[in-house]
Amino acid sequence: MNIRKANERDIDSITEVVSLAFDAEQYLLGEKVIEATLVRELIHDNDVIVSLVAEDPQIIGHIFVSPVSLTPVMRLSCGQVAPLSVHPDQQTRGVGSSLMWAAIDESKANGLDALFLLGDPNYYRRFGFVPSNVDNVYRTTGQFQQLELNAGCIESVTTYAHLAPAFSRLGL
Ligand SMILES: CC(C)(COP(=O)(O)OP(=O)(O)OC[C@H]1O[C@@H](n2cnc3c(N)ncnc32)[C@H](O)[C@@H]1OP(=O)(O)O)[C@@H](O)C(=O)NCCC(=O)NCCS
Repeated sequence: MNIRKANERDIDSITEVVSLAFDAEQYLLGEKVIEATLVRELIHDNDVIVSLVAEDPQIIGHIFVSPVSLTPVMRLSCGQVAPLSVHPDQQTRGVGSSLMWAAIDESKANGLDALFLLGDPNYYRRFGFVPSNVDNVYRTTGQFQQLELNAGCIESVTTYAHLAPAFSRLGL
């Protein structure tokens, strides 16, 4: 399996793998899986920090990081990891973990201070994610987590995390 940066030619394969990965959730917008529409809209809005694919040899997984803004404004660069998708036939063989570690490395290379995500803490704690102390739209879910890439940078801040506009446009 190889992990590389996504390019414009990958969009249909990415849409397919995201749609298949999230198909079980039955969260549709029209007839489309909403997370696949999210990826397309984030790209359209140019809200891309990291977009990586896993291929073997076809695209079997994808991970996306988009910008997060904080209010009050702070001198911090933050990203939201979403979505993370692995083809259903390829799950539980380490593809998701490899994508996540690569996205963390790429986020550091891009100078990000912290990453956020919404998901099952049982999966994401293995990468160092912990429940977030930053206020956000998902506060009540208890599943909003953070990973400091710059140690201590959001430890004691009082701020609100705004995801890229595509999330709220899609009701996510
Ligand atoms: C979640 C997902 C990305 C994990 O990818 P993967 O390639 O199957 O994961 P890995 O092989 O790296 O890791 C497998 C481990 O994760 C665990 N795991 C997978 N999904 C999990 C979940 N939702 N909650 C808790 N643990 C989970 C497996 O039980 C396995 O545990 P083990 O290492 O103790 O055996 C993949 O299952 C997927 O695409 N799911 C549908 C879409 C989704 O829910 N994405 C995440 C939300 S944005």
